[in-house]
Amino acid sequence: MLERAKRLLQPSARSAVPPFMVMDVVAAAARLEVQGRRIIHMEVGQPAAPAPKAAIEAARAALSSPLRYTETLGIPSLRRRIARAYAQWHGLDIDPARIVVTTGSSAGFILAFLAAFEAGDRVAVALPGYPPYRHILTALGYQPVGIETTAATRWSLTGEMLLAHHRRDPVKGVVVGSPANPTGTMMTAAALGELIRCAEDAGIIVISDEIYHGLDYAFAAECAARLSPDAVIVNSFSKYFCMTGWRIGWMVVPPPLVRAVERLQQNLAISVPTLSQIAAEAAFDGSAELNEVRRGYEENRRLLLEGLPRAGLDSFLPADGAFYLYADVSRRSADSLEFATRMLEEAGVATTPGIDFDPVRGKSFLRLCYAGAREDMREAVERIGHWLR
Ligand SMILES: Cc1ncc(COP(=O)(O)O)c(C=O)c1O
Repeated sequence: MLERAKRLLQPSARSAVPPFMVMDVVAAAARLEVQGRRIIHMEVGQPAAPAPKAAIEAARAALSSPLRYTETLGIPSLRRRIARAYAQWHGLDIDPARIVVTTGSSAGFILAFLAAFEAGDRVAVALPGYPPYRHILTALGYQPVGIETTAATRWSLTGEMLLAHHRRDPVKGVVVGSPANPTGTMMTAAALGELIRCAEDAGIIVISDEIYHGLDYAFAAECAARLSPDAVIVNSFSKYFCMTGWRIGWMVVPPPLVRAVERLQQNLAISVPTLSQIAAEAAFDGSAELNEVRRGYEENRRLLLEGLPRAGLDSFLPADGAFYLYADVSRRSADSLEFATRMLEEAGVATTPGIDFDPVRGKSFLRLCYAGAREDMREAVERIGHWLR
């Protein structure tokens, strides 16, 4: 019986994407916590703060009415509110007809890729980079093309690098993210503008992941929609708005792709969870709370940038934005997975080894998330210092 089931139920080749290693760290940390250990969590990239009060109240009030499907592209008032935010944040006049509400930015990528690319198309991504870009592309039948970045380009793709690859092995699209995960680095407006210009002149579609907008400390993050009407923008309520578990995000879609995205979402999801859409619209009234949370990240960032070198971790990429610090630990270990495992077991600090983000050079790096409580960050620095001594 088992043999028959095994023959019948072979997982598809497209499902053979690598696991997300950070979840293994989460499981290992949980095992230690069950044994009574206090673990400081710097592994998962999510805010410790709850959703804004206005969002929670709006959701609570909505529970007493029937929660039906909404329009596939999202509740019209939410789409208008998101469009209005672009005027406030970037001085941009975006037609609400271009806004598509999605189930987190994760669903935004699926919709963007399916709407823009044909099966087999090659799509460029930066290495190190957010692993699901590559893994979603693979699962959907595209070919991710990882391009290694270095300090010379602030760990970002440049137009020149993209075109050099494109001449050898043409790509149909490129995914860019600024501020980026795992590096926390950002692209200047000029660098993003140059990349978009080179890409679009060569017929390459740009997908800009702007999920960490609002969390930019070194300089203001540039919005791809200010640079090109043809860039596809993916964003989310998960990070700045502190709503990871509500699973809600949005896209700004170039007009020629809007109907394709609508048809796809009609079939893939019907609509996005109604309660989350109602909460998300109210979340825009929570900017005082959210900016306080952001100030907390800035303070944590300062604390780590000052404290970690004294503790013995002294080589990072520029921590421009988001809430990540990408530390080069090669002076301490040739294997960041082994290093992270020992740090978890011996110092009780959970971090993510870089191999999730860059299968080759990630062996030298560790990602530390500073979205946690100030006291935890302070204690993490102390514990790491003690452990490395
Ligand atoms: C760079 C980046 N993009 C996208 C996502 C997906 O977020 P969500 O689906 O919650 O919007 C994440 C989550 O950590 C991320 O770091």
